[in-house]
Amino acid sequence: MTNDQSNAMWGGRFAAGPDAIMEAINASISFDQRLAAQDIAGSRAHAAMLAATGIISDTDSQAIREGLLTVLSEIEGGRFAFSTALEDIHMNVEARLKEVIGEPAGRLHTARSRNDQVATDFRLWVRDQIDAALAGLEALIRALLAQAEAGADWVMPGFTHLQTAQPVTWGHYMMAYVEMFARDMGRFADARARMNECPLGAAALAGTSFPIDRHMTAAALGFDRPMANSLDAVSDRDFALEFLGAASICAMHLSRFAEELVIWSSAQFRFVTLSDRFSTGSSIMPQKKNPDAAELIRAKIGRIMGANVALMMVMKGLPLAYSKDMQEDKEQVFDAADSLMLALAAMEGMVRDMHANRPALEAAAASGFSTATDLADWLVRALGMPFRDAHHVTGRLVALAEAKGCDLPDLTLADMQGVHAGIGAAVFDVLGVHNSVASRVSYGGTAPDQVRAQVARWKERLG
Ligand code: ARG
Repeated sequence: MTNDQSNAMWGGRFAAGPDAIMEAINASISFDQRLAAQDIAGSRAHAAMLAATGIISDTDSQAIREGLLTVLSEIEGGRFAFSTALEDIHMNVEARLKEVIGEPAGRLHTARSRNDQVATDFRLWVRDQIDAALAGLEALIRALLAQAEAGADWVMPGFTHLQTAQPVTWGHYMMAYVEMFARDMGRFADARARMNECPLGAAALAGTSFPIDRHMTAAALGFDRPMANSLDAVSDRDFALEFLGAASICAMHLSRFAEELVIWSSAQFRFVTLSDRFSTGSSIMPQKKNPDAAELIRAKIGRIMGANVALMMVMKGLPLAYSKDMQEDKEQVFDAADSLMLALAAMEGMVRDMHANRPALEAAAASGFSTATDLADWLVRALGMPFRDAHHVTGRLVALAEAKGCDLPDLTLADMQGVHAGIGAAVFDVLGVHNSVASRVSYGGTAPDQVRAQVARWKERLG
């Protein structure tokens, strides 16, 4: 019946096989073989359901499910010959199943289409990646907490516009990234909860006339429930876009932190020393130790956000339901997920190994008139000055220190009183960086006690 050249899965309608170029543009097996485990899990759940509902016999279902395990072990053992002519992972698996178990293999595709099959496989795959991202983020957060705890009271300059602003604590700085990465965890968890509905049983687009039990397959695959609309089930890729959206924001955070590490590890800053394990040398300049891992993490956002945009463009004009355009979803998500996991692991390693150079941090914290705001606040508190006037007086004192080539604590009391007669010796208490950070006790502020409280709060949350 089937023409020798035409596809065994739909040869009835075709007289000739595809042009080689058609085969090349159509085939996805070179990349969607990554969905093998999910595809087989989905098929096994489907086969079990087909028997439980009396659609196929228990014997056939049993043969199918065991045969699928054989196919899986062949794939996992690298003993599977993937065929481009068989287009994708779904047909590669089914064709091999036929070779392994014979006739019952042909019953597996009852009440199912590749459209709901691929939607299910891909959801399962993305769900696993979300779990991996959550684990990677948690490990990174733990590394940041260890840094924050060790350096809760180490002072360093805080910047705005990358100009010295006010002294902050190392612990406070690390905890800022904890907050950012924790929000990333929240975004991934939200996406996971929303995506955890099963498309299987939507069939091609309209559902099926067979008495299937979609709740059974959904539960077997760890989904909360079946998707409620079969058209939506086969045409939705929101779950992949949400994953890429969360991944993009996370990659942006990683990129910002990586940028800090590149700056901080430079000879001009010397705030941190990155370990040899996460640095490289130069083939020509013997003195060099380059923060390559940080630079590559900084760059990953390009691929990840690129994937996000690419998939959005693939989806934006597609009418319901499935269109082959959607086959272009996978490579983008695979690459973005690989990039994200690698970046998270590299960042965790760098943070764990990173050595903060306390003397350099403290010296930098004290320079650049970093306690000018403390001085202005003192004028308000001690002399009852309106803040605007205090700001002006402080500005004149900064100008004076600048002219004398010294920092604020190096001015004499006479210098100070020359600018404002009411200033007393007590002012020097607020000019030191340790006093400055210790005074920032407002909730969420940089004071070491605040930092310790936040570290304790996060440790309790993570358990
Ligand atoms: N390889 C296809 C994909 O990745 C599977 C679904 C194909 N469905 C179809 N009706 N041609 O999207």
